[in-house]
Parts: sequence; structure tokens; C-alpha cells
Amino acid sequence: MKLIKLLRSLVFTACCTTALSCTAEEQTLSTQRIDELFSFATEQYKKATDSLDPSDGMPRNSHADGSWRQVQLKDWTTGFFPGCLWYLYEQNQNEYWLAEAQKWTKQLEPLKTFNGHHDVGFMIYCSYGNGYRLTKDPAYKAIILEASDSLATRYRPTAQVIQSWGSMDEKNPKSYRVIIDNMMNLEMLLWAAENGGNENLRNIALTHANTTLENHFRPDGSNYHLLEYDPKTGEVIAKKTAQGFADNTMWARGQTWGIYGFTMMYRETGDKTYLQFAEKIADAYMKRLPADGVPLWDFDAPDDLLVKDASAGAIASSAFLDLYELTGNKRYLKQAEKTLAELSSDRYLAKGADYQCVLLHSVGHMPKRKEVDVNVNYADYYYLEALTRLKKIRQQGE
Ligand code: GLY
Repeated sequence: MKLIKLLRSLVFTACCTTALSCTAEEQTLSTQRIDELFSFATEQYKKATDSLDPSDGMPRNSHADGSWRQVQLKDWTTGFFPGCLWYLYEQNQNEYWLAEAQKWTKQLEPLKTFNGHHDVGFMIYCSYGNGYRLTKDPAYKAIILEASDSLATRYRPTAQVIQSWGSMDEKNPKSYRVIIDNMMNLEMLLWAAENGGNENLRNIALTHANTTLENHFRPDGSNYHLLEYDPKTGEVIAKKTAQGFADNTMWARGQTWGIYGFTMMYRETGDKTYLQFAEKIADAYMKRLPADGVPLWDFDAPDDLLVKDASAGAIASSAFLDLYELTGNKRYLKQAEKTLAELSSDRYLAKGADYQCVLLHSVGHMPKRKEVDVNVNYADYYYLEALTRLKKIRQQGE
């Protein structure tokens, strides 16, 4: 039996190293293969760091001709490029990558006082959060704590949520709009409360998560993207979508934000209610996932819009590895491995042309026909995070 296992693993390793890509059928990635994928990512990001200038904005999408779309600081995706650099530095421990990660992270410092929308968690925790985790630089910690206080100013006690969109100065808003993505901003608040920040940040995070759990999901475990709350009564007055195909459909990335968010809530609080909920909504996602493990941008997309979303696959993979580590349930490990094997095939890796990124084939905003079937920095970020998690799991011997 042991001999068969050994032969199988040798055949598998040989296949992965010679072809430099695993097929989804193999449904697993060896540590050696993960290291090769990090080497590929490092080559791609070296081209990026050589060609980009922070004064042109933060990198969001890499294009086939070697150019980038760079965006202004308050764009919700600005933390992901520095975050990718931190994940590369974590692997290679090389001074060049430390300096690049620090340089790109520093651009975001003005966001510590920003409260124009809810995405401060994504922006600061993916950049400064990873930076602090890896360097323990006290200046980074101070910035995360200040940013957390800024995010908390968006808390609306009447509805018991952090308002996602709209200026807090708006007089008599018709509603408080909250999107499922907001679950991803809570980790920074929980971290801040544990690390010398205002203790009330923890209450805000828990309250927002509980309100979301109560209101944002359908009985089958899928979620509405956007809820509107009545500012006077705090009641839900509308359940809609912004980026999904229709109000009642399962927008893939929204479902994965939910899975990741509630898994994180369990990891950080130990409250089993969050675990049971994360498992329920993970089930709703896995039940409908196609055989290759990468979802369409919306599970109910019509026949003329059957486009995959690699970003949702990457976010789900990272969340499933977290869920596996928390529960020991191999079902989640297997699902993450399967999706990551597919994303690590030549069908998704940004090989050829002049791309300076890792993953192709994501969808940003289909209803507006923006970022359809392209590279997005958050797909790269959660893919590198998932590979980092999988490598640790492999090293611990599963
Ligand atoms: N948070 C915006 C998105 O997922 O596209």
C-alpha cells in the first residue's frame, strides 16, 4: 500500500514539474508545485514592480500588453497589490520584496482617516495588516488602529450595521445600504480590539455580523448582495443586488465573501453559531459548484453570459482552507485543492503575452460590463493567500 502511494506521488510530482501545470483531474498541489507557483508569481510581480510608479496610482488590473490600470487611493482594491507583495516576501524573505512591500504599503497611509465607504478593512488590513504580521513594525500597528476607528464611524446603531456605501454627512439618507462584502472588513476591527485599540470595535464587529447573519441570507444559504435598512426604524426595506445577475440569484463572489467572513468570525471568536453558519453557506456554494471547482460569476447567469470568476474561486479556496484548519473536515481541504489545481493550470495562469500578474479570468462588475474576464488584483491576493495556507498545511503534514 505504502509503495503504491509512493509511486503515485512520484508520478504526480514528475507530471507537475515537467508540464509546469497540474490538471484539475489531479486535484492536488505538492509543496514543490506550490513553490513553483510562488516562483511564477515572483517573476510576474518583479515585472510589475520594475514597471510601475506609485505616483500613477495603485495597480488594479494587469493587461496583456504589459500596461496596468492604476487607480486612486480610495478605490476599494488598493490594499491588494501591497498585500500580494507581502505574501511573496513571506515566502522568499528577500530584502528586495520587503522594500517593495513597504514602499507600496506606505502609499496607503492617508487612508487611516478615510471613512468614505466601508472598504477600509480590505484596504488597510490586506496591506498594513500583513505588513504588521510579518514585521511587527509599531508604526503599522498605529495605522491599523487609527483606520479601525475611522471605519467604526460608519456604524449605524439604529440598524446595528456598518453602513457600506454613501457619505456619512448625507442629510436624511433614504436608506443605509449594506453589502455582504462588508463581512470582510470585520477582521481588522476584531484585531484592533485585541491589540490595544478601542474595545468597542469588537462589539461593532459582532453586532454587524449578527445582523448580517439574521437578514442577508435566504433559507437555502445563498445571500442577497445588497440590503437597505430604514434609517428611522432599522428595519430591512429592500433586498437587492448590485453586482449579481438579479436580486434573487447567487452572485458567486458575494457568496464567497460570506463564507470567508463567517469562517473568520468563528476563528476569531470561537462562537459555534458562526461555524455552523459558515458550514451552511459553504454547502450552498459547494452544491452548485461545477466539476472544475471554479464558479461562474453568478450561479444563475444566463446562457449568453457564462463567464467564470477566478476571484471567487480564489476567495473560496482560502476560506475553505481556513475552515479545514478549524474543523479538520477534509471535505473543505479537498474542495480547496481541487479549485486551486484548476486555477494553477494554464487555463488560468497569466502565462504568455505581457501580463504582470498571476490569474486571468475574473469578473469585476458584469451588470456594468466592467472588468469582464480579466485579471483583478483581489484574485491574485486571495490565490497567494490560499497557496500560503496550503503550503503550511502540507508542512504540518495535513
Ligand atoms: N467588494 C466589491 C466586489 O467584490 O466586487
